[in-house]
Amino acid sequence: MPDAGKDDAPLLAKPRQEYISRKREEFAVAGSQTATHAFGTPYLRSCSLDAVLSWIAFLFICWPIGVVLVLSGCCCGPLLFQRFAMWCLTGPLRNSLLGVLLMRIPSLTYDLAMNGYQFLFQGFEQRMWTDTLLPARREYLDANFGRNLMLWDTVRIGDYGLAREIALDPHRKRAGCLDGWLIKGATLPQATNLPLFFHTGAEYHTAWRKAFREHITGAPSVVAKLKDGGRAAREEARPHLNAWLASGWGGIQPPAALGSRWMAQPVFETLASLLLDVRPTALEGEAKEAWDDLITKVAIYTTVGALYWLLPPSYPPLLQTAGTLAPSALKRFLYLHCNSARPEALAGRPVDWRAFADAVPGVESVTADVNGVRPSGSGASCCEATCGSCLGSSDVPSREEPKVDKLLDSVCMALLLAAAAGTTSGCSNTLAKLLRFPRGVFPKALGNSPQWTEDADEMAALFRACPTDFVIEALRLACPVAGSHKVLDKPMQCPFLDGTVTLPAESIVVANYNTAHLDPKEWGDDAMAFAPGRADHDRYLVWNGPFGRGWENEQPPAPRQCPGEEHAVAVISIVVGAFLDYHKPAGGGPPKNTRTAGDAEAASEPVARSLASEPPQSKSHPLATFCYYAFGGSQ
Ligand code: HEM
Repeated sequence: MPDAGKDDAPLLAKPRQEYISRKREEFAVAGSQTATHAFGTPYLRSCSLDAVLSWIAFLFICWPIGVVLVLSGCCCGPLLFQRFAMWCLTGPLRNSLLGVLLMRIPSLTYDLAMNGYQFLFQGFEQRMWTDTLLPARREYLDANFGRNLMLWDTVRIGDYGLAREIALDPHRKRAGCLDGWLIKGATLPQATNLPLFFHTGAEYHTAWRKAFREHITGAPSVVAKLKDGGRAAREEARPHLNAWLASGWGGIQPPAALGSRWMAQPVFETLASLLLDVRPTALEGEAKEAWDDLITKVAIYTTVGALYWLLPPSYPPLLQTAGTLAPSALKRFLYLHCNSARPEALAGRPVDWRAFADAVPGVESVTADVNGVRPSGSGASCCEATCGSCLGSSDVPSREEPKVDKLLDSVCMALLLAAAAGTTSGCSNTLAKLLRFPRGVFPKALGNSPQWTEDADEMAALFRACPTDFVIEALRLACPVAGSHKVLDKPMQCPFLDGTVTLPAESIVVANYNTAHLDPKEWGDDAMAFAPGRADHDRYLVWNGPFGRGWENEQPPAPRQCPGEEHAVAVISIVVGAFLDYHKPAGGGPPKNTRTAGDAEAASEPVARSLASEPPQSKSHPLATFCYYAFGGSQ
């Protein structure tokens, strides 16, 4: 184990230090932008060359080293690769790209191998994405190795107390990355000024959240719809959810639903009807065309999201480009059809985007590229240029109003990355408590189909008794957003393996909500058991802070708590509730899902038969078809 925490400054060559200082200055726009990411290294930016090099390194260098480290796991568990990664983080290679790449090897090879194995033979465990460790092995690993472990290129804190501390830290510094994905995430904040990447409490972060609350999540019509158990929201969602249910069953596997149109469409449409008064089934003309186009792109977006997390450090710009289709289609729809400045074309709530933008000082300049300029073909890295040009090139009329345009970039990214992706995944994870799914691609190909769980009636009764308890407990066991990071501003003592390490300032640590939610110190010995209502809502950290602390006060107690937690639970409850009512009506009676359109004979068949999966047909897109086979039946 290296001498953790020692000063690393002398290890850096002078030119490198100069480079870092210069980059820090470039990033420190208006004092609110994150200056560096972990290890004192400025954003690791990706371009096509990075992608090629990283794939070569991945295939020819990382795998051999990784295989040795992983094989050593048979003899000594994850001890060796955990120590190796910690050595990269705290030792002489700290602050270097090489260190970051090497650090990722063990978990990269292990994760990809395990994920591949799971896909093919076992079905996909959501937790695997960001936890590496199989839940079933949790107990053994806890006892032998502790809860705070290296994954990818960060230490993931699985100790509940420490994770909660991170969530509640009012001065939490952030980096331009999502969790451990330093290299990939780096391009995101440069393409959009999403507050997610800004320091907690920074002027931009605070203003954006407040304005988002005022214009979107806390708008009077939205608040009214959530009253009374969300009755009005449910009524509004009925037409498009009926259309969804009548369209049949695509044979989705819940953990893969992030890449599924079958799940993404009803969730996104319910979110849109709740937040923006869009009524998908009532749209006509140009607005309907724009909406259909948007839904297809949202499904591509969620599919790409799933692939994005699975791929090694760099990734083809094509993937990134595909991921920008939805933001620009959404931006177009919001500007044209949910805009108080365009009353003639309304197809939803008239949001005052100009007032929203005016309430967020600096929104037009906070990020864009490193110089505060919107990414374009010149001066930006390849990926930034691809992303930026794609966002800008798709005939989005908001570009005539640059400030509104930049604001819409951030809002669209929030609505897709934070709201839609999280809620879609949360919805599928909740459904997974009601249905049993065939495990893995191969068993599925052999004809296994989704079925109700043995205790489906009991589960349905539990859901109906208190949907919120049911949903938050389901998400405790499978957090859609598995963690949230913090850049240390001072060294941190952290229990690690059989001892303690001192993590130097500027390391990234990630509160690992999946693991923290299984910490027996907090949840008892039956932490793995699904038991809705088992604990106060306040103990659930799924939304980046104690659930339900609410926004009644101007300043919520958890300073970067998800502003959409209440909406997410409402949407999941509405979608899962509709699914349940349709297939298993309360008070017994024959399940309604025994018939798919035009299939009269199936009416008398058992439920499991009619749930059988079919490859995506009418509404599918090529990526969806790929995902159907890759993820075992999602479309
Ligand atoms: C099940 C669904 C959802 C889950 C599990 C979830 C969870 C989270 C988490 C853990 C974060 C912090 C992420 C980080 O620190 O890296 C976050 C941030 C955020 N979420 Fe959600 N969320 C969900 C749905 C929503 C919805 C429906 C909305 C909007 C209506 C929303 C809007 C946001 C925004 C804007 C942020 C950034 C907040 C900030 O940085 O201050 N989320 N969410």
